[in-house]
Amino acid sequence: MPNAHITGWGMAVPQKVLTNDDLSKMVDTSDQWIREMTGIRERHIAAENESSASLGAAASFKALKMAGLTPDDVDLIICSTSSPEHIFPATACLIQDQLGASNAGAYDLSAACSGFIYALQSGAQAIKAGDANTVLVIGAETLSRFVNWQDRNTCILFGDGAGAFVLQASDKAGGIQKGVIHSDGSGGDYLTIPSGGSKHPTTEATLHAGQHFIHMNGKEVFRFATRVIVSSTNEVLKKSGWKAEDLRMIIPHQANRRIIDAAARGLELPIESFFMNLDRYGNTSTASIPIAAVEAAKEKRLRAGDKVVLVGFGAGLTWAAMTIEWTGPLLKPFEKHYINADWYKPWAFLRRILKRIIRWLDTFLFDRSE
Ligand code: UT7
Repeated sequence: MPNAHITGWGMAVPQKVLTNDDLSKMVDTSDQWIREMTGIRERHIAAENESSASLGAAASFKALKMAGLTPDDVDLIICSTSSPEHIFPATACLIQDQLGASNAGAYDLSAACSGFIYALQSGAQAIKAGDANTVLVIGAETLSRFVNWQDRNTCILFGDGAGAFVLQASDKAGGIQKGVIHSDGSGGDYLTIPSGGSKHPTTEATLHAGQHFIHMNGKEVFRFATRVIVSSTNEVLKKSGWKAEDLRMIIPHQANRRIIDAAARGLELPIESFFMNLDRYGNTSTASIPIAAVEAAKEKRLRAGDKVVLVGFGAGLTWAAMTIEWTGPLLKPFEKHYINADWYKPWAFLRRILKRIIRWLDTFLFDRSE
């Protein structure tokens, strides 16, 4: 059975930065309150022409470039997101189109902030089962589009961004080890966007009631998060036969510094064992773990051979943890294909137009032949 290795990674965040001071001009809050209660200083907010798919595609190009692969090498694209561009088509399909990854199947996965770990587990299973050689796993969010900018309980927390990992099959030891995933739908109403789905389609009344925005019971989510980070980290360590002292680091979902402090106390680990960058990005939901991993690797705090735990929690309720032996590119420099995203994007665009023309011609000729 092949192992699933993480051989490339990339991230993308919008250029626009919204600071705590900016927020204090919009709602009754302050930089001091937000920093003390969450650890967040600023977050990135998507511009009108940016979306979950465009950020996801930008992160994917970087991840593929690092792995030395082209979009044509990808067999499967899994996009974890809670802010998809549409109910359907899947954001993963839009990313597939933007990448020009014409050999890939693509689907979205919805498990909120735990989603990236769920998606990694699915991608690794596809590789281990022999169904795929190369999988692109993406976490992409533009939750700013669902934030009520008048609700100080939620608008201070969330930011936009995307992260992507390339998973590749190899007989080499290491890569993704064990995963644990959990859910408890009885807590679904703690963190929800009540309308816009099939239960409460958007109407004038739902809009008036603000049900298209994120609604959160912060206290309950906080309590749940501190409990499950500890339990799922311990569970996945036990399942892997690893001890906490074997770990190079834990990369937790970047929601709130106080949640991570409490988890460190619960696991009896120094806070330095936890990678954190939530001060600069806020809570980017499912994108937060890959964005943190990309920065940890960039800062050389995560190197090939290191043992790491990813742990996340979020709406659903869902929670998940995973053990990984970090890898990096498998291909030697002379084996790599260096893709240039600036060159690829117009090519993928042209391919998109050509496909539409062929579809149109097909319909036209078919209609005439009837
Ligand atoms: O991916 C998962 C996403 N969700 C989370 O991770 C959320 C987890 N929960 C949290 O991070 C925390 O619950 C918050 C940071 C959101 C809030 O902290 P808290 O300790 O639960 O505060 P609270 O909601 O109990 O509010 C305490 C006080 C209240 O004032 P009063 O009633 O005591 O006078 C709030 O109205 O702080 C007030 N408050 C604020 N004040 C200034 C709430 N939000 C703000 C704000 N600025 N932004």
